[in-house]
Amino acid sequence: MRATAKAHTNIALIKYWGKRDEQLITPMNNSLSLTLDGFYTTTTVEFHEDRKEDTFILDEEQIHGVAYQRVTDYLDFIRIYADKPNLYASVNSINAVPTAAGFASSASGFAALAAAATRALDLTVSDKELSRLTRQGSGSACRSIYGGFAEWEQGSLADGSDSYAVPIAPANHWDIRVAAVVLSATMKDVSSREGMKRTVDTSVFYPGWVKHIPTDLKNIKAAIDARDFELVGQIAEANCLKMHATTLGANPPFTYWHDTTMAVMQTVQAMRKSGIPAYFTIDAGPNVKVLYLPEHEEIVQKTLIETSGVTDVILSRPGQGISYI
Ligand code: PMV
Repeated sequence: MRATAKAHTNIALIKYWGKRDEQLITPMNNSLSLTLDGFYTTTTVEFHEDRKEDTFILDEEQIHGVAYQRVTDYLDFIRIYADKPNLYASVNSINAVPTAAGFASSASGFAALAAAATRALDLTVSDKELSRLTRQGSGSACRSIYGGFAEWEQGSLADGSDSYAVPIAPANHWDIRVAAVVLSATMKDVSSREGMKRTVDTSVFYPGWVKHIPTDLKNIKAAIDARDFELVGQIAEANCLKMHATTLGANPPFTYWHDTTMAVMQTVQAMRKSGIPAYFTIDAGPNVKVLYLPEHEEIVQKTLIETSGVTDVILSRPGQGISYI
């Protein structure tokens, strides 16, 4: 009753922003991501007949409080699914992500947890089913089941059973790169959960966001298929800006950007002016991720690290989907 799984995090090129159902974690819109090889979590789950509670160790430290609660709540969900209500587990996770960098991701964490827990219970689940189960731990994590490009289909059923990710193109389809830019200011004061909710409930710009998603998705899928880097970059950057614009129309308004976030955005735009195709995207926090091509790696890395307020630049290639160890 023991299994170990490894999952990589993913970066959304078309963002998931807004929940249709808070409990089921179903989204208001489809989203599309690239799985990254540089950031991953390895998790071992072992179920024990004689335990009365779960334990959670992360990076060799016993975890209590909110982070523990999220893991044990998720295991409750898996226990109900597996019809094993009284079987408690020890969970041991290692994040291959510089934790201090503020990139510790719930995506790789919940994908690895879902995969290891279901495997430890000997459940036979398809990728689609695993994605659906992972979604209920953390929405964006459901895309990390697959390597390369994946799309999370929002679904329409009230029970969420048709809301899961599907593969779009494998990691070896296209060697595009992502630089994760670490900033000195990394604290996020509005969680993605709270930020989305406030935006859906109050932002005057939210209807515009939802309306434009099908066009962005259609165009980016064609561009990925054609390996058209500039088009993928333009669509991803514009989609990110639209998502962040919705937060300014919320009540009360908020933004995830810091001055250094904007400095990096300007650096990327200046690189483009000088002929280096590079595009940025930003999630629910101040850090920036930059898309570029392998032949520009050296100059992109150097230019980013020289930007004031940048403390580190971590380079990634397209990553693989779930694996078991
Ligand atoms: O799944 P969550 O709650 O971590 O939300 C992720 C939201 C964004 O990162 C902003 C966008 C995305 O699609 O990953």
